[in-house]
Amino acid sequence: MVLALKDFPAVGRAARATSDWIDLQWSLVIELLTRVAPQAHGRLLDVGCGDKPYEHLFRPYVSEYIGIEHEASFQATTAARATRGPDLLYDGRRLPFEDKSFDTVLNVQVLEHTPHPAALVAEMSRVLKDDGVLLLSAPFQFRLHEQPHDYYRYSPHGLRVLCAAAGLEVVEVHQQGSLWSVLAHKLNSYLAFRVARVGGLAQAMGKLPHEGRALARTRVWTLPFVAPMMLGLSGSARILDRIAPDDEETLGFLIVARRSKRSLAEHTAEALAPSAATFPDAKGSQ
Ligand SMILES: C[S@@+](CC[C@H](N)C(=O)[O-])C[C@H]1O[C@@H](n2cnc3c(N)ncnc32)[C@H](O)[C@@H]1O
Repeated sequence: MVLALKDFPAVGRAARATSDWIDLQWSLVIELLTRVAPQAHGRLLDVGCGDKPYEHLFRPYVSEYIGIEHEASFQATTAARATRGPDLLYDGRRLPFEDKSFDTVLNVQVLEHTPHPAALVAEMSRVLKDDGVLLLSAPFQFRLHEQPHDYYRYSPHGLRVLCAAAGLEVVEVHQQGSLWSVLAHKLNSYLAFRVARVGGLAQAMGKLPHEGRALARTRVWTLPFVAPMMLGLSGSARILDRIAPDDEETLGFLIVARRSKRSLAEHTAEALAPSAATFPDAKGSQ
Protein backbone atom coordinates (compact mmCIF):
# COMPACT_ATOMS: atom_id res chain seq x y z
CA MET A 1 0.00 0.00 0.00
CA VAL A 2 2.88 2.39 0.81
CA LEU A 3 4.48 1.59 -2.54
CA ALA A 4 1.20 2.13 -4.37
CA LEU A 5 0.83 5.61 -2.90
CA LYS A 6 4.41 6.49 -3.84
CA ASP A 7 3.93 5.17 -7.35
CA PHE A 8 0.77 7.20 -7.95
CA PRO A 9 1.35 10.67 -6.47
CA ALA A 10 -2.01 12.03 -7.68
CA VAL A 11 -3.82 9.19 -5.89
CA GLY A 12 -1.71 9.83 -2.80
CA ARG A 13 -2.58 13.55 -2.87
CA ALA A 14 -6.31 12.82 -3.29
CA ALA A 15 -6.21 10.27 -0.43
CA ARG A 16 -4.41 12.78 1.80
CA ALA A 17 -6.90 15.58 0.97
CA THR A 18 -9.85 13.28 1.70
CA SER A 19 -8.39 12.07 4.97
CA ASP A 20 -7.60 15.67 6.02
CA TRP A 21 -11.22 16.60 5.39
CA ILE A 22 -12.46 13.61 7.42
CA ASP A 23 -10.01 14.40 10.24
CA LEU A 24 -11.96 17.08 12.10
CA GLN A 25 -9.18 17.69 14.61
CA TRP A 26 -6.78 18.57 11.79
CA SER A 27 -9.14 20.42 9.45
CA LEU A 28 -10.74 22.55 12.19
CA VAL A 29 -7.32 23.62 13.52
CA ILE A 30 -6.35 24.57 9.98
CA GLU A 31 -9.57 26.58 9.59
CA LEU A 32 -8.90 28.51 12.82
CA LEU A 33 -5.23 29.12 12.02
CA THR A 34 -6.20 30.40 8.57
CA ARG A 35 -8.65 32.80 10.24
CA VAL A 36 -6.09 34.28 12.67
CA ALA A 37 -3.02 34.12 10.38
CA PRO A 38 -3.42 37.76 9.18
CA GLN A 39 -2.64 38.86 12.76
CA ALA A 40 0.84 37.35 12.47
CA HIS A 41 3.60 39.78 11.53
CA GLY A 42 7.36 40.35 11.53
CA ARG A 43 9.52 37.57 13.00
CA LEU A 44 7.51 34.47 13.88
CA LEU A 45 8.65 31.74 16.27
CA ASP A 46 6.77 28.41 16.01
CA VAL A 47 7.35 26.72 19.38
CA GLY A 48 6.96 22.93 19.13
CA CYS A 49 6.81 23.24 15.36
CA GLY A 50 7.05 19.51 14.54
CA ASP A 51 7.42 19.24 10.76
CA LYS A 52 6.13 22.84 10.33
CA PRO A 53 2.74 21.91 8.82
CA TYR A 54 1.35 25.46 9.14
CA GLU A 55 4.26 27.42 7.66
CA HIS A 56 2.45 28.00 4.36
CA LEU A 57 -0.49 29.65 6.19
CA PHE A 58 1.73 32.21 7.91
CA ARG A 59 4.47 32.86 5.34
CA PRO A 60 2.46 35.54 3.49
CA TYR A 61 2.22 37.65 6.68
CA VAL A 62 5.66 37.34 8.29
CA SER A 63 9.23 38.31 7.40
CA GLU A 64 10.83 35.29 9.08
CA TYR A 65 9.49 31.89 10.18
CA ILE A 66 11.63 30.05 12.73
CA GLY A 67 10.64 26.67 14.15
CA ILE A 68 11.97 25.30 17.41
CA GLU A 69 11.46 21.92 19.06
CA HIS A 70 12.05 20.26 22.38
CA GLU A 71 14.89 17.93 21.46
CA ALA A 72 14.07 14.90 23.61
CA SER A 73 10.35 14.71 22.81
CA PHE A 74 10.84 15.58 19.13
CA GLN A 75 13.39 12.82 18.54
CA ALA A 76 10.76 10.25 19.60
CA THR A 77 8.33 11.34 16.83
CA THR A 78 8.25 10.25 13.18
CA ALA A 79 8.48 13.98 12.29
CA ALA A 80 12.15 13.76 13.29
CA ARG A 81 12.69 11.81 10.03
CA ALA A 82 10.72 14.28 7.86
CA THR A 83 12.50 16.48 5.33
CA ARG A 84 10.91 19.63 6.81
CA GLY A 85 11.52 20.31 10.45
CA PRO A 86 12.73 22.63 13.19
CA ASP A 87 15.48 25.17 12.67
CA LEU A 88 16.58 24.71 16.27
CA LEU A 89 16.33 22.17 19.05
CA TYR A 90 16.44 23.07 22.76
CA ASP A 91 16.19 21.43 26.16
CA GLY A 92 12.59 22.52 26.84
CA ARG A 93 13.58 24.97 29.58
CA ARG A 94 14.78 28.34 28.27
CA LEU A 95 14.06 29.35 24.69
CA PRO A 96 17.50 30.27 23.26
CA PHE A 97 16.52 33.83 22.26
CA GLU A 98 16.87 37.32 23.72
CA ASP A 99 13.93 38.94 25.50
CA LYS A 100 11.44 40.65 23.14
CA SER A 101 12.92 39.24 19.95
CA PHE A 102 9.76 38.07 18.14
CA ASP A 103 6.63 39.80 16.85
CA THR A 104 4.60 36.59 16.72
CA VAL A 105 4.78 33.34 18.67
CA LEU A 106 2.84 30.35 17.38
CA ASN A 107 2.14 27.36 19.62
CA VAL A 108 -0.10 24.66 18.15
CA GLN A 109 -1.14 21.55 20.10
CA VAL A 110 1.99 21.68 22.27
CA LEU A 111 0.80 22.88 25.68
CA GLU A 112 -0.73 19.49 26.57
CA HIS A 113 2.67 17.86 26.01
CA THR A 114 4.73 19.76 28.55
CA PRO A 115 4.52 18.91 32.26
CA HIS A 116 5.27 22.59 33.00
CA PRO A 117 2.84 24.64 30.85
CA ALA A 118 3.12 27.83 32.95
CA ALA A 119 6.89 27.85 32.42
CA LEU A 120 6.48 27.43 28.66
CA VAL A 121 3.89 30.23 28.42
CA ALA A 122 6.21 32.48 30.48
CA GLU A 123 9.08 31.74 28.08
CA MET A 124 6.92 32.49 25.03
CA SER A 125 5.85 35.75 26.66
CA ARG A 126 9.48 36.66 27.43
CA VAL A 127 10.56 36.42 23.79
CA LEU A 128 7.55 38.42 22.54
CA LYS A 129 7.97 42.13 21.74
CA ASP A 130 5.68 44.60 23.53
CA ASP A 131 3.30 44.74 20.56
CA GLY A 132 3.70 41.04 19.85
CA VAL A 133 0.98 38.45 19.52
CA LEU A 134 0.73 34.87 20.80
CA LEU A 135 -1.40 32.47 18.74
CA LEU A 136 -1.94 29.34 20.80
CA SER A 137 -4.14 26.33 20.19
CA ALA A 138 -4.66 23.55 22.73
CA PRO A 139 -7.05 20.60 23.02
CA PHE A 140 -10.06 20.53 25.33
CA GLN A 141 -11.21 17.01 24.44
CA PHE A 142 -8.87 14.68 22.63
CA ARG A 143 -7.77 11.07 22.98
CA LEU A 144 -4.55 10.22 24.78
CA HIS A 145 -1.70 10.65 22.32
CA GLU A 146 2.10 10.82 22.21
CA GLN A 147 2.09 8.93 25.48
CA PRO A 148 3.52 9.28 28.06
CA HIS A 149 4.01 12.96 27.13
CA ASP A 150 0.33 13.85 27.26
CA TYR A 151 -0.33 15.78 30.46
CA TYR A 152 -3.26 18.26 30.27
CA ARG A 153 -6.41 19.52 28.50
CA TYR A 154 -7.37 23.23 28.48
CA SER A 155 -10.44 25.41 28.97
CA PRO A 156 -10.37 29.07 27.87
CA HIS A 157 -10.40 30.06 31.54
CA GLY A 158 -7.31 28.02 32.28
CA LEU A 159 -5.56 29.50 29.25
CA ARG A 160 -6.50 32.99 30.44
CA VAL A 161 -4.98 32.33 33.87
CA LEU A 162 -1.79 30.89 32.36
CA CYS A 163 -1.47 33.92 30.08
CA ALA A 164 -2.21 36.41 32.87
CA ALA A 165 0.53 34.90 35.00
CA ALA A 166 2.91 35.52 32.08
CA GLY A 167 1.78 39.14 31.55
CA LEU A 168 -0.39 38.38 28.54
CA GLU A 169 -4.02 39.24 27.92
CA VAL A 170 -6.28 36.91 25.95
CA VAL A 171 -8.08 39.10 23.42
CA GLU A 172 -9.80 36.40 21.33
CA VAL A 173 -10.99 32.86 21.98
CA HIS A 174 -11.96 30.66 19.04
CA GLN A 175 -13.83 27.38 19.47
CA GLN A 176 -12.62 24.37 17.45
CA GLY A 177 -15.91 22.84 16.40
CA SER A 178 -18.80 21.96 18.67
CA LEU A 179 -20.59 18.93 20.15
CA TRP A 180 -21.10 17.19 16.82
CA SER A 181 -17.45 17.46 15.85
CA VAL A 182 -16.47 16.00 19.21
CA LEU A 183 -18.83 13.04 18.77
CA ALA A 184 -17.89 12.43 15.15
CA HIS A 185 -14.20 12.76 15.84
CA LYS A 186 -14.33 10.23 18.68
CA LEU A 187 -16.31 7.73 16.57
CA ASN A 188 -14.00 8.28 13.61
CA SER A 189 -10.93 7.76 15.80
CA TYR A 190 -12.39 4.44 16.97
CA LEU A 191 -13.18 3.37 13.40
CA ALA A 192 -9.79 4.47 12.09
CA PHE A 193 -7.48 3.22 14.81
CA ARG A 194 -9.34 0.29 16.40
CA VAL A 195 -11.38 -1.12 13.52
CA ALA A 196 -9.42 -0.35 10.33
CA ARG A 197 -6.06 0.26 12.05
CA VAL A 198 -5.05 2.92 9.55
CA GLY A 199 -2.27 4.43 11.70
CA GLY A 200 0.50 3.11 9.44
CA LEU A 201 -1.37 4.11 6.29
CA ALA A 202 -1.92 7.61 7.69
CA GLN A 203 1.80 7.93 8.48
CA ALA A 204 2.65 6.78 4.93
CA MET A 205 0.56 9.78 3.78
CA GLY A 206 2.53 12.12 6.07
CA LYS A 207 -0.10 12.29 8.81
CA LEU A 208 0.35 11.69 12.58
CA PRO A 209 4.00 12.79 12.36
CA HIS A 210 4.27 13.48 16.09
CA GLU A 211 3.31 9.98 17.12
CA GLY A 212 5.61 6.97 17.33
CA ARG A 213 5.63 4.60 14.34
CA ALA A 214 2.30 2.71 13.99
CA LEU A 215 3.09 -0.99 13.80
CA ALA A 216 -0.33 -2.66 13.39
CA ARG A 217 -1.20 -3.79 9.84
CA THR A 218 -4.10 -1.95 8.23
CA ARG A 219 -7.23 -4.11 7.92
CA VAL A 220 -7.70 -3.24 4.27
CA TRP A 221 -10.89 -5.31 3.96
CA THR A 222 -12.69 -2.99 6.43
CA LEU A 223 -11.98 0.16 4.40
CA PRO A 224 -14.99 -0.12 2.01
CA PHE A 225 -17.27 -0.02 5.08
CA VAL A 226 -15.30 2.22 7.39
CA ALA A 227 -14.31 4.96 4.91
CA PRO A 228 -17.92 5.89 3.87
CA MET A 229 -19.01 5.83 7.53
CA MET A 230 -16.20 8.20 8.47
CA LEU A 231 -17.00 10.50 5.54
CA GLY A 232 -20.67 10.55 6.55
CA LEU A 233 -19.87 11.27 10.20
CA SER A 234 -17.54 14.17 9.37
CA GLY A 235 -19.97 15.65 6.86
CA SER A 236 -22.91 15.38 9.27
CA ALA A 237 -20.88 16.91 12.11
CA ARG A 238 -19.96 19.92 9.99
CA ILE A 239 -23.63 20.53 9.16
CA LEU A 240 -24.93 19.92 12.71
CA ASP A 241 -22.24 22.16 14.26
CA ARG A 242 -23.69 24.97 12.15
CA ILE A 243 -27.37 24.38 12.75
CA ALA A 244 -27.23 23.20 16.38
CA PRO A 245 -24.02 24.60 17.91
CA ASP A 246 -23.11 23.99 21.55
CA ASP A 247 -20.85 26.46 23.35
CA GLU A 248 -19.82 23.98 26.03
CA GLU A 249 -18.49 21.19 23.84
CA THR A 250 -15.50 21.45 21.54
CA LEU A 251 -12.33 19.68 20.49
CA GLY A 252 -10.19 22.61 21.56
CA PHE A 253 -9.59 26.34 21.67
CA LEU A 254 -7.37 28.75 19.85
CA ILE A 255 -6.53 31.94 21.69
CA VAL A 256 -5.00 35.21 20.56
CA ALA A 257 -3.07 36.91 23.38
CA ARG A 258 -1.19 40.19 23.55
CA ARG A 259 1.14 41.66 26.10
CA SER A 260 -0.81 43.53 28.74
CA LYS A 261 0.09 47.07 29.81
CA ARG A 262 -1.38 46.35 33.23
CA SER A 263 0.72 45.03 36.10
CA LEU A 264 1.06 41.31 36.55
CA ALA A 265 -0.76 41.48 39.90
CA GLU A 266 -3.74 43.33 38.37
CA HIS A 267 -3.87 40.91 35.54
CA THR A 268 -3.72 37.75 37.61
CA ALA A 269 -6.33 39.11 40.02
CA GLU A 270 -8.71 39.80 37.14
CA ALA A 271 -8.20 36.39 35.56
CA LEU A 272 -8.87 34.67 38.87
CA ALA A 273 -11.87 36.83 39.86
CA PRO A 274 -15.15 34.89 40.13
CA SER A 275 -16.71 37.43 37.77
CA ALA A 276 -14.14 36.74 35.02
CA ALA A 277 -15.93 36.59 31.69
CA THR A 278 -17.51 33.28 30.83
CA PHE A 279 -16.51 31.72 27.57
CA PRO A 280 -19.65 32.37 25.46
CA ASP A 281 -19.57 36.11 26.30
CA ALA A 282 -15.85 36.49 25.86
CA LYS A 283 -15.22 34.53 22.73
CA GLY A 284 -14.07 36.30 19.60
CA SER A 285 -15.80 33.91 17.28
CA GLN A 286 -17.24 30.46 17.04
C1 LIG B 1 1.22 17.27 18.93
S1 LIG B 1 2.84 17.78 18.46
C2 LIG B 1 2.44 19.27 17.60
C3 LIG B 1 3.47 19.62 16.57
C4 LIG B 1 3.06 20.78 15.66
N1 LIG B 1 2.90 22.02 16.42
C5 LIG B 1 1.78 20.42 14.94
O1 LIG B 1 0.72 20.95 15.31
O2 LIG B 1 1.83 19.61 14.03
C6 LIG B 1 3.52 18.39 19.97
C7 LIG B 1 4.96 18.83 19.82
O3 LIG B 1 5.34 19.58 20.98
C8 LIG B 1 6.71 19.36 21.19
N2 LIG B 1 7.03 19.81 22.57
C9 LIG B 1 6.73 19.21 23.73
N3 LIG B 1 7.18 19.96 24.77
C10 LIG B 1 7.74 21.07 24.24
C11 LIG B 1 8.39 22.22 24.79
N4 LIG B 1 8.53 22.40 26.10
N5 LIG B 1 8.86 23.16 23.92
C12 LIG B 1 8.72 23.00 22.59
N6 LIG B 1 8.13 21.93 22.03
C13 LIG B 1 7.66 20.97 22.83
C14 LIG B 1 6.88 17.88 20.91
O4 LIG B 1 8.22 17.53 20.61
C15 LIG B 1 5.96 17.67 19.71
O5 LIG B 1 6.63 17.79 18.48
